[in-house]
Amino acid sequence: MPPKVPNSMILGIGSAVPEKVLTNQDLEKIVDTSDEWIRTRTGIERRHIVDETTKNSELSAQAAKIALQNAGIQPEEIDVILVATVTGDATFPSTACYVQELIGAVNASAMDVQAACSGFLYNMTIADSLITAGKAKYILVIGTELLSRIVDWSDRSTCVLFGDGSGAAVLGPADDSGRGVIDTYMKSDGRLTHLLCMLGGGTSVPYQKAIDDGLNWIRMEGPEVFKAAVMAMGDAATKVLEKNNMTNEDIDLLISHQANIRIIKATAKRVNMPDEKVFVNVNEFGNTSAASIPIAISEAVDQGRLKKGDMLMLVAFGGGFTWGSALIKF
Ligand code: ACO
Repeated sequence: MPPKVPNSMILGIGSAVPEKVLTNQDLEKIVDTSDEWIRTRTGIERRHIVDETTKNSELSAQAAKIALQNAGIQPEEIDVILVATVTGDATFPSTACYVQELIGAVNASAMDVQAACSGFLYNMTIADSLITAGKAKYILVIGTELLSRIVDWSDRSTCVLFGDGSGAAVLGPADDSGRGVIDTYMKSDGRLTHLLCMLGGGTSVPYQKAIDDGLNWIRMEGPEVFKAAVMAMGDAATKVLEKNNMTNEDIDLLISHQANIRIIKATAKRVNMPDEKVFVNVNEFGNTSAASIPIAISEAVDQGRLKKGDMLMLVAFGGGFTWGSALIKF
């Protein structure tokens, strides 16, 4: 069976990360850890952290403006804004509405989608479906996080892992070049919510109780998450390839969620992807959750690792648990 003809394509991509860098050496001064432990266990060397006043929507708007410029699309032409984040400006309204105002996308509808680290991939699926159904022409898809605001800076098992950043893509109708979103795959397992979560601030553990009970930070069972991530991302990568009658040889670049170098390598191994076809920037940014994939796409383009017409495979995994994959002829 020949590959599916794409209905939507990425027209432009952009990212924005805070200037301030927190190195492993800086963290050695905050918690009982070492550069050596962090590097060997995670591959992370540095992460970028926002200052005290920057809002998630402001960083998102920076990334969105770059994506719009690269796409050659005006903000007024955007029909839908989809923001993936677990660290939105407010419980409501959606961060997407704040972004809408900041970029002047006055003709759009705007909403947030919450799927933790898989959020950008989930949003790509929604955007592709809306465009395929003729419900929208241009969609701004954003993955963005200020995880530094929900990290317990006294918990060495989590605070060394995360960073802040935003990435954005403009999706629009595919042209007749064969480039575009070939296929996407999404999956969740709600039996495992307790392994990676922040319970405080929702309606089951309201703010004051969250603070009293110390539930206002990310909590993670690291080794359990690790095992599940390796299994799920490997499966997601295999499934989307098999479903589209493709093999590792058809893929030019694999971009996995940048959580941990060991998870990235295990995923690549499952689909026999050689190192030169695997993009890694977890060393520079740490785990930026929903932002990690669009930041990586943006960097891969800037570095000339990802070119027009390349076959790109995306794979993500996150809290929920949620996971997914995508094949895109870029
Ligand atoms: N510095 C030094 N020692 C540490 C640190 C630290 N920062 N953190 C934990 N340790 C210690 C532990 O206390 C433990 O000590 P003990 O043996 O004396 O009890 C020891 O190191 C080993 O701890 P483990 O948690 O078993 O270490 P592990 O090898 O599993 O690595 C890690 C931990 C890096 C968190 C790993 O489990 C992991 O990467 N998990 C997946 C996390 C992830 O990728 N999450 C993202 C996916 S979802 C999302 O992105 C939101």
